[in-house]
Amino acid sequence: MCEMASGVPKFQFYENELNIRRVIEQSDLQSLDRALNICDLSSLERKLRLWHNLLPRIKPHYAVKCNDDPVVVKFMADLGTGFDCASKNELKLVLGFGVSPERIIFAHPCRPVSHLKFAKEQKVVNGTVDNEYEVYKLLKHYPSSNLILRFKSEAKKALCPLGDKYGCDAEADAPALMLLAKALDLKVTGTSFHVGSGCSEHEAYDRALEKAENIFKVGELIGHDMDLLDIGGGFPGNDDAMFEKIAENVNTAVKLRFPDERIRIISEPGRFFVEAAYTLVCKIHAKREIRNKDGKLDTLMYYLNDGIFGAFAGSFYYPEVLTPELYLDGAETLPKFKSVIWGPSCDALDKIGEERLLPNLNRGDLLGFRNMGAYTMPIASPFNGFDVPETRFFLAK
Ligand SMILES: Cc1ncc(COP(=O)(O)O)c(C=O)c1O
Repeated sequence: MCEMASGVPKFQFYENELNIRRVIEQSDLQSLDRALNICDLSSLERKLRLWHNLLPRIKPHYAVKCNDDPVVVKFMADLGTGFDCASKNELKLVLGFGVSPERIIFAHPCRPVSHLKFAKEQKVVNGTVDNEYEVYKLLKHYPSSNLILRFKSEAKKALCPLGDKYGCDAEADAPALMLLAKALDLKVTGTSFHVGSGCSEHEAYDRALEKAENIFKVGELIGHDMDLLDIGGGFPGNDDAMFEKIAENVNTAVKLRFPDERIRIISEPGRFFVEAAYTLVCKIHAKREIRNKDGKLDTLMYYLNDGIFGAFAGSFYYPEVLTPELYLDGAETLPKFKSVIWGPSCDALDKIGEERLLPNLNRGDLLGFRNMGAYTMPIASPFNGFDVPETRFFLAK
């Protein structure tokens, strides 16, 4: 076991592969009320290697919003990635680990003035913008910053589309915004987009890069010195085959549309790095049987020690079917029953899943959920007085 520099969190080493079952056996989960996150930090390292192999020209800036655990953020900082921060507190967290401001993009197109002032003090110079009100805000509060024009270009299929909220129209608005910036003596130095989180249409990147190329051309014509392209996030967290297709699409489009190597290309992946690193182990703390009129068992109801107000909060926004794994010997051969999985709060919205087929489990049995590292803990709240899960960190020797 190791003490981290910040003091509190500890991590443990493992050989070869992290064995979740062994971790469970070695942890006294029966005396732990909270659910347990098992985070494999080495998975982040592996993902970064994969990124460098498949997208060598694109420098990832980890999107802190996705998982802002200080251990994760520090680990990424030590690996040398850049960062996408969306708020003053995210900037503070990242800068606190000694990350230089040039490694940060303040990727929020609508930033509160106090956050902008902080960015200015800290010399975080690159930030996104997508409308004229924010251009004027920057004129007043941070005129020396670099404006990265965010435009809208969405994938046809994504878990969480973002285009309704952010991004100007690449044709109708972008030229006008760049003209306005020029007239106000502000610098537009690049452009950015986000195809939507959990993108499953790899061609989406090519479509967006075509628009980005036009914005670069128009920006140069207006007299802006454009040298930063930011291709956002959207990369899958646990589907390497899909990531390969996206990388192929991006590489081809970049070669064609941005052949000038002096143009710096960055990205803002969140889910890609952290989703697969976490397994959440929950305990059944209560159960009920629902019987039909004949007294026959119809449905089993299980109540876990975490739910949609905790680490499953992301399932509000990213409705994925979560399939639990069991850690019982011979579980595959046990008869299965229609089951509903509930979270611990009194709220009936707090349902993790229904129509699942599970064996007749007991209080104290554990259910594991893989790929729980993205948009989970930063959203979790101790609603109803139930603690959010504890996290333990592991690292390959
Ligand atoms: C501006 C911005 N950048 C990056 C991300 C991270 O996206 P992902 O987790 O899909 O990589 C998000 C997610 O919402 C975002 O809003």
